[in-house]
Amino acid sequence: MGKVAVAFAAAAVLVSCSVAAVMVGRRIKSRAKWRAVVEILKELEEACDTPVGRLRQVVDAMAVEMHAGLASEGGSKLKMLLTFVHHLPNGTEKGTYYALHLGGTYFRILRVHLGGERSYLDVQDVERHPIPSHLMDSTSEVLFNFLAFSMERFIEKEGKESNSQGVKRELAFTFSFPVKHSSISSGVLIKWTKGFEISEMVGKDVAECLQGAMNRRGLDIHVAALVNDTVGALSLGYYHDPDTVVAVVFGTGSNACYLERTDAIIKSQGLLTTSGSMVVNMEWGNFWSSHLPRTSYDIDLDAESSNPNDMGFEKMIAGLYLGDIVRRVIRHMSQVSDIFGPTSSMLSEPYVLRTNSVSAMHEDDTPELQQVARILKDLGVSDVPLKVRKLVVKICDVVTRRAGRLAAAGIAGILKKVGRDGSGGITSGRSRSEMRMQKRTVVAVEGGLYMNYTMFREYMEEALVEILGEEVSQYVVVKAMEDGSSIGSALLVASLQS
Ligand code: BGC
Repeated sequence: MGKVAVAFAAAAVLVSCSVAAVMVGRRIKSRAKWRAVVEILKELEEACDTPVGRLRQVVDAMAVEMHAGLASEGGSKLKMLLTFVHHLPNGTEKGTYYALHLGGTYFRILRVHLGGERSYLDVQDVERHPIPSHLMDSTSEVLFNFLAFSMERFIEKEGKESNSQGVKRELAFTFSFPVKHSSISSGVLIKWTKGFEISEMVGKDVAECLQGAMNRRGLDIHVAALVNDTVGALSLGYYHDPDTVVAVVFGTGSNACYLERTDAIIKSQGLLTTSGSMVVNMEWGNFWSSHLPRTSYDIDLDAESSNPNDMGFEKMIAGLYLGDIVRRVIRHMSQVSDIFGPTSSMLSEPYVLRTNSVSAMHEDDTPELQQVARILKDLGVSDVPLKVRKLVVKICDVVTRRAGRLAAAGIAGILKKVGRDGSGGITSGRSRSEMRMQKRTVVAVEGGLYMNYTMFREYMEEALVEILGEEVSQYVVVKAMEDGSSIGSALLVASLQS
């Protein structure tokens, strides 16, 4: 071999050695990056862990806070608000009634016709529209004028033959925010939640604002009740099944209400109701306990929200926030590793990942996880390998599993407070006869998160059985109430007339 050929061969060996070295180096680097991402996932899983022992601590904390909130004004982060609802619709109601519901993402208007028998409930003309985002930080006047205008359009569409023509229309205003009531039809806004920010509205009477806007438009409508969405759901639940004592909403926000004995509402001594009980709006979104498994993502989300240090429980379990927790985890991963390609600026946009996208990714059953690929692409993350898409599904699972399980602990806490969790105050084992005395208890549940996100629902229901045990769970029935908040509020107005 000539000298040139030897030099050429040596150079070729050198080149291939360095190519191999570069490739090995890259592989090592990419393995290290993958390991970093897997480490983040592991930390997330550990921080979100909710073994049944921890859930039981949350159950106890919820029951304790409920007592404290009932004992004195400001005694707990749970406001335990009086609703002045002490009779729930029982099925004998008659007539035509309306509901206007301002929720977190949608507003709804509907009309119900009642024939005096439980089976005769005719829900007519349900309209459901997204709340225009500019209204959320406008002025109270703009907001209420918009609602009155929407109501006017709804009424204009009613046929001439509608039996409510010529009669003053009775309306329930389902208002999904915390209100301090002075009667069933009046109350002032305590604070906004779920991203609404109309500060001059705080402290104003909500029903009065709506009534004023209706009057200005010359509408012959009477705002007969101001109803929290949970109370609406409870009303519909009770209308169908008088064993309903608790209602919970899992939607954009989250909250619960339940029927309480008036003598247990110590902060309002002397409160007399003919039924001896009153529905209490817990505003459980603001519940807090050191037993809640909180991550650095929750802390950042809270700090950057429009209501920091507020609604801590809601921020772990409600629809507005689950997507944003998942987004924060993905962003963190994309910052420490390039497995998502170059970090997309969209991943830094708060709330850009909605919870319905999380549910679509989590429940993606295509073999190549095409839904996940599509949603990531919308976030500016394209062409990620299957193993990265699987990782994203896992993140959704961890965040939603924690939410579902904590939601179950919240419900079990209420059952404990009202003595329906099977413990009956007895710490030791229970006899068979005691078991037989366990009352059937219905929990009415409403809200898009619960209705549309199967995995959330399943995790919640599974954890409830885990907490209560198989035997007691047989007495606890969780019932879905589609549009329950709005329909139930209209039923409540009907029950006031009869
Ligand atoms: C509000 C509650 C409401 C819940 C569900 C929360 O943000 O404070 O009043 O019931 O969302 O809509």
